Amino acid sequence: MSNEVRKAILAIIEKNSRIDLKELSVLLGISEIEVANAIADMEKEKYELRYQYVVGILKAKINIINEQLSREYGREIIWDVSSRLKKPDSIHAKLLRKDYERNFAAAKKKLNDLIGIRIVCLFLDDVYKVAEMLQKQSDVEVIKIKDYIEKPKKNGYMSLHMIVEIPIYLGEQSEIKRAEIQIRTSAMDFWSVLDYQLIYKKNVSGAEEVAKELKGYSEEIAALDKKMMKLRNKIDKI
Ligand code: GTP
Ligand code: MG
Repeated sequence: MSNEVRKAILAIIEKNSRIDLKELSVLLGISEIEVANAIADMEKEKYELRYQYVVGILKAKINIINEQLSREYGREIIWDVSSRLKKPDSIHAKLLRKDYERNFAAAKKKLNDLIGIRIVCLFLDDVYKVAEMLQKQSDVEVIKIKDYIEKPKKNGYMSLHMIVEIPIYLGEQSEIKRAEIQIRTSAMDFWSVLDYQLIYKKNVSGAEEVAKELKGYSEEIAALDKKMMKLRNKIDKI
C-alpha cells in the first residue's frame, strides 16, 4: 500500500467518518477489497497503538503506587503486573455469549475488558491498599468494582476487579479508554491460572466432582492467605 493511500485512509479513520468503500476505491484508484483490507489493517494498528498507550499509562501509575506503598510499609507490595489485549476469537465468543452485535464497534462499546491489567500482590490486605490508591488517582475514574474476594464466584474464583476509565491524548483529540484491572494475591493467581488452564472457557460440563475439588482448593487458598497475613503481623512484632 502506498504512503498516499495510507495517509488518506488514516485521515478518514482518525476522524471516524463514515467509510464509503466505493467512493474510496475510485478516489484512491484501488479495488474495494484492497480498501477494505487496508482499513481493517489500520483499524488494528489504531487499536494496538491505543492499547499500548493505555497500558503504558496504567503501568506507570501502578509502578508509582508500588513505590509509595513499598516505602510506607517497608516491604514489597506488588509482586507482578501483566497486561493483555483481548484476542479476536475471545472477543467474538463473548459478544456471542452476551448476545451483542458481533462487530468491532459493539465490542469497544460493550466490552469492558478489551484491555486487561493484572496486579499480583503478596498479601491479602495489600490488594485493598492498591485498589484504594488507584481510586485516589484523579485521572482514573473507577466505574465498577466487583469484589470476588469478599464474595468469591460459585466455582471459587477470587480476585478484585475494577473497571476504570482514563483519558488519552492524541494530538488535539482526547479519548476516554476503558480497562479492566484485576488485583489478587499470588495464591489466588495460582488458583485462577490453573482453573483457566483446566476448566474456565472449556465448558467442562458434568464434571461436578472436579469442580467441587477445585472449589475446595480455593477455600484452602483463602484460608492460607489469611494465615500468611497473620504470620506477617506476628513477625512484624518480633
Ligand atoms: P468474562 O468472564 O470475560 O465473560 O467477563 P465478565 O463480564 O463476566 O466479568 P467477570 O468479572 O466475570 O470476569 C472478567 C475476567 O475475570 C475474565 O475475563 C477472567 O480473566 C477472570 N475470571 C472471571 N471468572 C473467572 C473464573 O471462574 N476463573 C478464572 N480463571 N478467571 C475468571
Ligand atoms: Mg464472567
